[in-house]
Amino acid sequence: MLKDLTKISCLKDNIDKNVTIGGWVRHLRPSGKLIFIVVRDGTGLCQCVIEKDKVSEELFEQLKRLGMESSLTITGLVRKDERSVGGYELVVSDAKVICESTDYPITPKSHGIDFLLKNRHLHLRSQMPWCIGKIRHTLVNAIRQFFNDNGFILIDTPILTGIVGEEAGSLFNVDYFSMPAFLTQTGQLHLECAALSFGKVYCFGPTFRAEKSKTRRHLTEFWMVEPEVAFVNLPDLLEIAENFVSFIVKEVLEKNEAELKTLGADIESLKKIVPPFYRLTYTQASEILTSQKTQDFMAAQLNEFKKAKQEIENKIAALETEAKGQIKQWRQDKIAAELIDLRGDLDEIETKIENNPKHAKLASEFKWGEDLGGSDETIISLMHDKPIFVTHYPRDAKAFYMKQDPENPKTVQNFDMLAPAGFGEIIGGSIREDIYEKLLERINEEGYKLENYQWYLDLRRYGSVPHGGFGLGVERTLAWLTGEKHIRQCIAFPRMMNKILI
Ligand code: 4AD
Repeated sequence: MLKDLTKISCLKDNIDKNVTIGGWVRHLRPSGKLIFIVVRDGTGLCQCVIEKDKVSEELFEQLKRLGMESSLTITGLVRKDERSVGGYELVVSDAKVICESTDYPITPKSHGIDFLLKNRHLHLRSQMPWCIGKIRHTLVNAIRQFFNDNGFILIDTPILTGIVGEEAGSLFNVDYFSMPAFLTQTGQLHLECAALSFGKVYCFGPTFRAEKSKTRRHLTEFWMVEPEVAFVNLPDLLEIAENFVSFIVKEVLEKNEAELKTLGADIESLKKIVPPFYRLTYTQASEILTSQKTQDFMAAQLNEFKKAKQEIENKIAALETEAKGQIKQWRQDKIAAELIDLRGDLDEIETKIENNPKHAKLASEFKWGEDLGGSDETIISLMHDKPIFVTHYPRDAKAFYMKQDPENPKTVQNFDMLAPAGFGEIIGGSIREDIYEKLLERINEEGYKLENYQWYLDLRRYGSVPHGGFGLGVERTLAWLTGEKHIRQCIAFPRMMNKILI
């Protein structure tokens, strides 16, 4: 059966030939003696035109009644047609309905996000998740390709672990034969063992954090790729990270321009993502945050937001006036859909207007020693057009395994990479503490059980070398690339505090 079907993406090679495609009804419009059906088959969209006298009356009537997402196979002649969605059209000679679908719950009009998340099992078929899924596929491939082509060995680190990898506060406990166990927060600690065996390694898998916050940047289950390298220092690591991110952006731009356009991503800004990225120390970042420049910047932002709010309100008023007039039903429906979107935009801009002074105040009160908060990262990131490395955070604000900076022992040799234009952190990484006594001191400070970390300490007893690595979150990176506001759209089945079923 599969072999008898032509994929919509291959119609270009079948012009003036008869083919059969198999798919689902995206959209259907009867018009007198014609029916126009837009079919999707997973590789693209194709408009199929059914003329009344070219098929049996029974079939014509059946097709006319088909609801959205009915499944069918449909046979016809391929015609090139620039105006048609996808650029090709099928002049239909036959069709077989496989499953009629009536009252499909997701209609072309806009729906609220809660509704779509509840219907995620169906929403995956819609245009937006489909585009994001295709870009995610490219991104994951590009990630693997970069490390495979640069001499890294893939190591699959365990998902069930007995130790705290990042911070005790966000562990998921597992009942593991009466022993304390958790879902992994990072593959890094196990990966360090492998780095001292293979030199350059990476792991890539699901990662779990019991995040109680419902922010746009947090999932409880996300995918992280983590490279780890022996004999490396911080400047080396930053270079690997900027080459890596530039490579994956280039691949997505090359392979998914159409999907990026459909999603309204900022393609021109992505084209600027080439090395070198900006480099700031944490101390410089904290000076920026508390400077007058930042206050001026935030005030200018606030003005922009207010202007944007006014424009949206004007559009809403104009559409509401039009809707009250004598207009066709299709225009009423279109206006209703546009109004839902505009009201969503209005909510968003109002939140920004409300948050701006709070964030400006938080920045002005920033004290050296605190970790950068989400709003601080957003401010730094808004001021730059390429990713920014922020390095050398205060030791006390960061994970126990990060190497103390010998030049300033109050800081560690770490970095976060902030994606530009307000997105914020996509990578966290560091050089690892390779001195036995210093690592022991940090483990004790955290109050972790020493016996659980003995194997990790052993790496510092037997042939310890300078080493380090980083972790990049796939969903955050995808949200940045696609311009998607919330990372829950960037994984097929998002897991969040209040969401586990579908
Ligand atoms: O900065 P993090 O916590 O770093 C680590 O886990 C290190 N062990 C990595 C390493 O050095 N090998 O997390 C790294 C990245 C973040 O920058 C972010 O992109 C992503 O993982 N991330 C999350 N993504 C979605 N939801 C969450 N709750 C996330 N927490 C971290």
